[in-house]
Amino acid sequence: MTETTSSAAAWPSREGEIVAALDKRLIVLVGMMGAGKSTIGRRLAARLRLPFFDADTEIETAHRMSIPEIFERFGEPYFRDGEVRVIARLLDGGPAVLAPGGGALTRGETRQRIQDKAVSIWLKADADVILRRVRRGRTDRPLLQTADPAATLDRLIAEREPVYRNADLTVWSRDLPHEKIVEECVEALHVYLCGPATVTPQDAPI
Ligand code: S3P
Repeated sequence: MTETTSSAAAWPSREGEIVAALDKRLIVLVGMMGAGKSTIGRRLAARLRLPFFDADTEIETAHRMSIPEIFERFGEPYFRDGEVRVIARLLDGGPAVLAPGGGALTRGETRQRIQDKAVSIWLKADADVILRRVRRGRTDRPLLQTADPAATLDRLIAEREPVYRNADLTVWSRDLPHEKIVEECVEALHVYLCGPATVTPQDAPI
């Protein structure tokens, strides 16, 4: 009989155990802009063979407008209301990996829904790493269009870290190959959801 590699039964790995333990829950990557939520989230989803959702992209698609346009035309409170609704919808579509925008957890109802329907990972990054990444990457972060983006970033980090800290898991986002950070997410998820690896007697050193 030929073996298939695509069935769940042929996937007795840490990844398969994580997905089984998740059931309908999502994995939500929280953290500041520039922490790598979308980059890591997309790769983590591929590794776990789960769908990936980027909340900002979903908001842009729903509005047929970019995030800076939404901020400019309607203001931040309007954007945040839309963000709450989009994330609520995505949280009903698990299992999946979700990357919400960095400010999504400023809304209490979103924090509660993530707690109820997801396992959260705080992708923690130092302020200087974030600043370097947002400077060399996307220029479309409306909240950083200020006279002193570094000071704005410091203020946002100080306001938000107490909230991010409540995530179920924390993984440091450093300037390492993405696959290394993904591996750390997989390890942390596996311990959290499936318990630490046990050593069976026949494996134990004599
Ligand atoms: C925001 C972060 C952005 C985007 C919007 C507001 C924030 O998402 O939602 O510009 O308040 O930190 P990323 O974290 O994906 O950059």
